[in-house]
Amino acid sequence: MNQDAESILFTPKSIGNVEVANRFVRSATFECAAHEDGSVGDKYSKIYERLSKGKVGLIISGMMHISEPSKSYHFQAGLHSDEMIPGLSAMTKKVHQAGSKIFAQICHGGRQTLVQGKRPMAPSGGGMDLIYQVIPRPMPIDEIKTVIADFGKAALRAKQAGFDGVQLHGAHGYLIHEFLSPFFNRRSDEWGGNAKNRFRFLKYVYESIREKVGDDFPVTIKLNVNDHTPKLGVSIEDVKMYCERLTEMGIDAVELSCGTVAYSMFNQSRGDVPAKGFASTQPLPFQWISAKIFALVFPQQRYIFEEGYNLWASQHIRQVLQDVPLIMVGGLRSPDVMAKIIHEEQADFVSMCRPLIREPMIIKKWQDGNKKPVSCVNCNKCFVVLAHNEMLSCGNNRSF
Ligand SMILES: Cc1cc2nc3c(=O)[nH]c(=O)nc-3n(C[C@H](O)[C@H](O)[C@H](O)COP(=O)(O)O)c2cc1C
Ligand code: SF4
Repeated sequence: MNQDAESILFTPKSIGNVEVANRFVRSATFECAAHEDGSVGDKYSKIYERLSKGKVGLIISGMMHISEPSKSYHFQAGLHSDEMIPGLSAMTKKVHQAGSKIFAQICHGGRQTLVQGKRPMAPSGGGMDLIYQVIPRPMPIDEIKTVIADFGKAALRAKQAGFDGVQLHGAHGYLIHEFLSPFFNRRSDEWGGNAKNRFRFLKYVYESIREKVGDDFPVTIKLNVNDHTPKLGVSIEDVKMYCERLTEMGIDAVELSCGTVAYSMFNQSRGDVPAKGFASTQPLPFQWISAKIFALVFPQQRYIFEEGYNLWASQHIRQVLQDVPLIMVGGLRSPDVMAKIIHEEQADFVSMCRPLIREPMIIKKWQDGNKKPVSCVNCNKCFVVLAHNEMLSCGNNRSF
């Protein structure tokens, strides 16, 4: 692909009423850089300032909790109270000064939490996984209703804090996705049992948000096209139906992803399995056995990296979305591949996570004519950095 063909990546495109300067999205990436109460300061802001100086058209924040019981991780940024607004406003101002747009990814952790104790809420109960080691409890209906309202309140705070839109985290095994997936949602009431009922929670969350933020504020979603769970999760037919309904309801963009953190984190982000790295979070006497168990549960050969590993889903979803922009994430690495995706209208935006952890300025370099390929090697040690409760950074070449 020549330089002219790649220039399509630097053309603007709107999401709702928000014009994004180019076709690059920074996919949501948990930062582990907030204060423990969820408020943010310079440490957090600097991550976003750097990405905006690096000419990312649209930045999606790392997952942010919508209420105290929805928090998944230590040092996670929150939108659970008005006290969070001043720190976030200072950050969004800096991002806008550099010309980027920024959406807040709002998330309820559901069963995927390391901070809610051993019985976090989820659509249904279920067994323990290796990552979170909890036994979730099924949510009663009044709790479901409270969470729906909390999403609306959090989205309004995002708007008040100067975000240009929100992205619902409807992927990777967190609560919205848990409702959508038959693997996690085994309810037999009106919130489960078939795809239409499993969609009900997301429908009410969306309506609760719209009521609070109005029609002129982009509301978008990240969805899984494949859960890679031990038993059947969402099917592509389910996802088509979800996208059809969301389009009718007025969703402003959809990002397609895959995998769950609890059961299939290396399907979500393909590449190496840093088993020793994850084991290094355990006390020394248990590290050897932890590494062995980790490698057994997540066998390396299952996660071979290939560029654009979620792209197959575009042919199923593109038409259904009509004019709603499609954002594609998952192993996108080379400008020529990304330009081809846009030219062929397989997606409207290309989204990256790991390459921008390692090189936040890579898009600016490409824009300036330096066609250097990304240097991220998909070793996944950035997950290990987070597992140590350290601020997000590239973990390549570190000893774990
Ligand atoms: C360190 C790390 C943190 C992540 N945090 C989030 C997150 O907060 N929300 C989310 O939707 N996805 C998260 N992801 C998944 C990415 O957004 C993306 O879907 C996935 O890594 C594939 O994209 P890539 O190949 O460009 O890395 C995270 C991935 C990594 C590696
Ligand atoms: S640790 Fe660095 S090189 Fe490895 S996957 Fe993460 S960003 Fe890429």
